[in-house]
Amino acid sequence: MDLQKKISKHDFGTMPDGRIIEKFTLHNANGMEVDIIPYGGSITGIRVPDRQGVLGDVVLGFDDLATYLRHDAYFGAIVGRFANRIGGGKLVLDAVQYQLPINLPPNHLHGGKLGFGRKVWEAKIPFHSENPCIELHYHSRDMEEGYPGNLEIKTTYSLTDENELEMVTEATTDKKTVINITYHPYFNLTGKPDQLIFNHELEIFATHILETDEGMIPTGKLRHVEQTPFDFRIPKRIGLEIGADDIDLQQGNGYDHCFALDHPDGQFSLAATAYDPVSGRLMELFTDKPGLQLYTANWLNHSWQAKGSDVRYGPRTAFCLEPQLYPDAPNRPEFKSPVLSPGEVYLTRSTFRFGVK
Ligand code: BGC
Repeated sequence: MDLQKKISKHDFGTMPDGRIIEKFTLHNANGMEVDIIPYGGSITGIRVPDRQGVLGDVVLGFDDLATYLRHDAYFGAIVGRFANRIGGGKLVLDAVQYQLPINLPPNHLHGGKLGFGRKVWEAKIPFHSENPCIELHYHSRDMEEGYPGNLEIKTTYSLTDENELEMVTEATTDKKTVINITYHPYFNLTGKPDQLIFNHELEIFATHILETDEGMIPTGKLRHVEQTPFDFRIPKRIGLEIGADDIDLQQGNGYDHCFALDHPDGQFSLAATAYDPVSGRLMELFTDKPGLQLYTANWLNHSWQAKGSDVRYGPRTAFCLEPQLYPDAPNRPEFKSPVLSPGEVYLTRSTFRFGVK
């Protein structure tokens, strides 16, 4: 297949200001397909085979741009400038205090009210690349959502013939700022949007989670996962202990926690696997990031209608595995620093690899 045949485009909708949003589909030699729209840089579909070779769509999403504009749950989006929470929205850089918007009182979440998941990125298809890929560029201006510095950011999505969807994000700034990018696809490997994800077997290569307060801001303490519902070091059904009497679980209304991954800092490694025993679909996540937020779609509440279906997405019909720096890192000197200075390049790589078992 030549590269042109591996990428197709369709009109997906029109922004209120008249900009046309196209949907790009990356195709590989095995028939796997990934849909991406420049609105939010969002992954809107991933179709992968089951054990019988039947394609199923394993991410939640919508048929129309209008729903993407309305929802508030980061469906498939690139999340930034700082993913996850910043306590009180407080950011101090070089003794200057910045107040970021409090969009999840009393904290700042996922880059604010109009974070990167609500922006239109510029899409480019690189001429020379081995695999079908799409580059998304965004210029985040100085003080956008309260963050200092003009930030130039590029995320490249590539699809390999090994059924890997790779995300590489690079960024530079003209003023000291903070950055923490993650990706927010909601997965359900059954391919059926009305099915709970309780029977998925999840494995996470983490011996600790970050303990948090009632606002889900890290206290700075690590909690060992042994004999807790957070022990996924050996694959375990997501549903097995989701209702357990555990303070952290109750604070999250289910799993909504950052795992401190065991791999050495910056080393691109296998971080988690998820397996649906019925379809046989297996997903592996590799990342160079130190943290992994597991979110079991606890707050989906039947507001949004699933693509190609009459079903509305309910709680626990998906899980997110979000590679990232630790939440509230700007206020925790002991965590890996999220600071990006002029002259430096932010660079991070994560891959979702699909197969069957
Ligand atoms: C957060 C959740 C939040 C969700 C938004 C997740 O990444 O950790 O707390 O509710 O995104 O849909």
